[in-house]
Amino acid sequence: MLRSTLLAASRSGAIRKLVESTPLTKPVVKRFIAGDDVDAAVAATGDVLADGRLVTLDHLGEDTRDASQATATVEAYLTLLGRLQDAGYADRAEVSVKLSAVGQFLPVDGEKIALENARKICSAAGVVGTTVTLDMEDHTTTDSTLGILRELRLDFPWVGAVLQAYLKRTEQDCRDLAHAGSRVRLCKGAYQEPASVAYQDKSEVDLSYVRCLKVLMKGEGYPMVASHDPRLIAIAADLARDRAKDSYEFQMLYGIRPEEQKRIAAEGNRMRVYVPYGDEWYGYFMRRLAERPANVAFFLRSLVTK
Ligand code: FDA
Repeated sequence: MLRSTLLAASRSGAIRKLVESTPLTKPVVKRFIAGDDVDAAVAATGDVLADGRLVTLDHLGEDTRDASQATATVEAYLTLLGRLQDAGYADRAEVSVKLSAVGQFLPVDGEKIALENARKICSAAGVVGTTVTLDMEDHTTTDSTLGILRELRLDFPWVGAVLQAYLKRTEQDCRDLAHAGSRVRLCKGAYQEPASVAYQDKSEVDLSYVRCLKVLMKGEGYPMVASHDPRLIAIAADLARDRAKDSYEFQMLYGIRPEEQKRIAAEGNRMRVYVPYGDEWYGYFMRRLAERPANVAFFLRSLVTK
């Protein structure tokens, strides 16, 4: 109930204005968001890399309805990639891109514009020697995102994508993508989805996650295990026992279970942290609140205490 309310709020312009105008919001937001600008993003990247973890950076923004905003997002990624190269981080830090931030929802030629914009980001990533992973948004975008992934991979075979275990289709999508060179980031899924397309019970989502993991770990691709769930991480480690350590990786979000992130990395595993930055933090932040009721209490407390 609380989860669906928060996820509905994550798409409400009125509540967005209220939360964003709350002066005390920012310190709370900072647990999950590296900062407002590229300087903060590069600094956070350095901190994470320093103890042997890897990074994927997300320039925050989604649901763009304005072509110039989509172009600005592309520019932000190009600036970021240049800065990662200058700092000597591009071999360990990649970028994650939401196609809705680069034009997928534009009313005219949205998919075409998103593909062209994503191509520019991939091209720049290739030049600095890093990779791009496409985030996955709600289920109405899955076919479009996987279609754009296929197109991008013709020129940039290292482009990866997220699949969401809560969707009933995902086990089949994993089979389709478990081929050599294919990078798949498997997560549970963070959006409000109808029962017609998505499992609603947590236990059903977890079971689906394990089935998808089995497909990916048996396949020839590069599985990216994106979860903070200790049971799923243990199952993934077990399924990967016969794989080379550099043929898969674990991933978690910035600010969530950082000690566990360091522990996993210290055991010789590839552990990547998803680092979001930018001032369009509202949707991302609300999804993090929805994942864990304790975060809501933490947020509300911050409104009354400094
Ligand atoms: P679960 O939600 O069951 O959490 C397990 C444990 O982790 C909790 O008990 C708690 O200890 C901790 N935890 C989890 N979330 C927390 C939070 N917000 N605050 C504090 N503690 C928390 N989703 C999507 O739909 N599209 C996408 O593209 C992505 N991309 C993505 C990339 C990466 C690298 C990660 C790790 C996750 C995503 N996600 C995502 C989000 C994902 O779908 C999911 O919502 C969250 O990862 C939470 O699910 P868990 O697997 O962690 O399990």
